[in-house]
Amino acid sequence: MPDFLEINEVPVNDLRSILEDAKRVKLERNGKSRGVLDVGTPLSDFVVALIFEKQSTRTRLSFDVGVRQMGGQSIVLASTDLQRSRGESAKDTALMLSRYVDLIMIRTFADRVIREMVEHASVPVINGLTDYSHPCQIMADVMTFEEKAGPIKGKTVAWVGTGNNVCNSFLHAAGQFGFNFVFCGPEGFDPDQREVFFATSMGSEVIIDRNPVNCVKNADMIVTDAWISMHEEVDPVYKQKLKAFQVNKELLSFAKPDVVFMHCLPAHREEEVTSEVLDGPNSVVLDEAENRLHVQKSIMKWCLGLI
Ligand code: CP
Ligand code: NVA
Repeated sequence: MPDFLEINEVPVNDLRSILEDAKRVKLERNGKSRGVLDVGTPLSDFVVALIFEKQSTRTRLSFDVGVRQMGGQSIVLASTDLQRSRGESAKDTALMLSRYVDLIMIRTFADRVIREMVEHASVPVINGLTDYSHPCQIMADVMTFEEKAGPIKGKTVAWVGTGNNVCNSFLHAAGQFGFNFVFCGPEGFDPDQREVFFATSMGSEVIIDRNPVNCVKNADMIVTDAWISMHEEVDPVYKQKLKAFQVNKELLSFAKPDVVFMHCLPAHREEEVTSEVLDGPNSVVLDEAENRLHVQKSIMKWCLGLI
């Protein structure tokens, strides 16, 4: 059964099936209480391990609630709960977990940890964020954009900030879903060249621009993220370099009036984005967070061969 590791490793038809399923079940659940079970309780025979080696609010809650709504059972494990924190290898953890559970979701640091788990697990593994990527988030972001503004194909996404893990997954999505990507950040913060290459090799246009105004002018979506990710050291000089790349009302005034603003959250208000923008009319950040729930349920079903 397939793993869900990176957006550029899943066939685009399957990505589309996941999004379609998420849209359908979201609609079916419209207005129901969060605890109402989904029609057919598709996960009623399954146990899912949700491992968090880094902090999480949205990923933890959305996966856990998602498993429950589908009638499955979830076990949420923080790194401190596991012998992993005392040195047990990803290989041994994966071999053993495969005897207890049907599906593993893991949020971890190095990409190689998740690769090692996949190599040794006999059940599917889902990437719930690594230092390198955050594919579940960007699936929710594509779903959210299309709900608000129609098909993402041919549209332009402007990323303002640092070329981090979320940015890498956006570049994967640009290649797979056929949208263009403008990166705007200071020199030295550019996204990984491999991801830029993936997007361009799939026919998407990728532009690196140091001028935030140029960058947002023709954008259909503006997106940013924390300047310092969970795996990075806090460096005050680093933040100084990024100051000119804050998404604020003035920057938005150069964009199309109906531009969609996204942020995966948690946000650092008045740092990478002002409250005026985050809470303003262009912002869809809460819809993004909600859609994590819907899209991840469909990702889990896809991994288990249920869609
Ligand atoms: N966006 C996101 O992944 O949020 P959490 O870190 O709270 O899970
Ligand atoms: N880039 C951020 C995303 C958090 C959801 C981080 O890795 O900390």
